[in-house]
Amino acid sequence: MPEMDGYEVCERLKNDELTRHIPVIMITAIRTDSEVRGKALEKGAEALFSKPIDLEQLATHLDFVLTSKEEEHQLRTDKEELEGLVQKRTKELTLTNKQLRQEIAERKLTDKKFRDLTKHIEEVREKERARISLDLHDDLGQRLTALNMDVAWIRKQLSKNQPEILEKTNSMTGLLNETIKTVQKISSELRPSILDDLGLVAAIEWQLDEFTKNTFIDTIAKDLPEYLEVDEEVSITVFRIIQEALTNIIRHAQASVVTVGLSTTNNLLKLVVTDNGIGIPVENLESSESFGLMGMKERARSHGGDVTITNEGDKGTRIIVAIPF
Ligand SMILES: Nc1ncnc2c1ncn2[C@@H]1O[C@H](COP(=O)(O)OP(=O)(O)OP(=O)(O)O)[C@@H](O)[C@H]1O
Ligand SMILES: [Mg+2]
Repeated sequence: MPEMDGYEVCERLKNDELTRHIPVIMITAIRTDSEVRGKALEKGAEALFSKPIDLEQLATHLDFVLTSKEEEHQLRTDKEELEGLVQKRTKELTLTNKQLRQEIAERKLTDKKFRDLTKHIEEVREKERARISLDLHDDLGQRLTALNMDVAWIRKQLSKNQPEILEKTNSMTGLLNETIKTVQKISSELRPSILDDLGLVAAIEWQLDEFTKNTFIDTIAKDLPEYLEVDEEVSITVFRIIQEALTNIIRHAQASVVTVGLSTTNNLLKLVVTDNGIGIPVENLESSESFGLMGMKERARSHGGDVTITNEGDKGTRIIVAIPF
């Protein structure tokens, strides 16, 4: 052949992706020696025959080559199919992954919005409480005191022969004094002035005293720092969490002692409230109906903090609050 020989034809066929699977059987007129055979196989030929050809042998060989090529072809198609499938699944998974990421991002955003809203509502409520508390204390309280003084003045004007009116003024004074006390109680429940005037530690001590007075449950204040400078919002948050914890103890714990500890390390405020009661039921810890517990957690979270509540078995319940400040 003028352009190229059999070897080159074979080589070209075998080097082209489109044709390389075509079986090549070389037939030569030259007597084959091992060098020629080696060269043919090196170029990729499936077999080499030299003339004169034994047709039967050629047919058998052709059969063999074709069958194995067919098997090869089948394997190749299977592999391609599998690869296609893998590619498709990978694509699908990538898409699902992307959607999931998007959903997570959206949920995070909703969570953040919800958290911001809760924080805002809490702040508004606290402001409102503080305002009503002040109005009750300053306005209503002052007026009641003035009334009380007026009644005392009237009593002084009475002569001895007006015993009925005298008695009336006495009972008015009694009622007024009780009312003044009630107003003070409501006012300090809404917003203990001690929290604003003397700070968190004093307010906790006061709250624990009140608690023991009203419930006969002992309280132990453990390692309360003498002085603590935290901003107003964190103070209120911690105070409200303690209030909810104490209310829960009265209502659910059947405890006889409550321990409250407060410490600060590395700009982290740590509050621990422990009771020696029956222990919080584990299923209530994550229940979507435990609004009191959720409120505690939300309050802490709105300051970047966290609340951990554990059932300590027969030792009762422990609440740990950590808030950066
Ligand atoms: N200190 C505790 N000891 C034992 N059980 C507790 C304690 N604190 C809470 N629980 C249990 O966990 C539940 C959820 O408390 P959570 O404060 O969320 O709700 P609540 O006190 O029942 O109602 P509220 O929404 O008025 O606070 C309570 O109903 C109670 O069963
Ligand atoms: Mg509660």
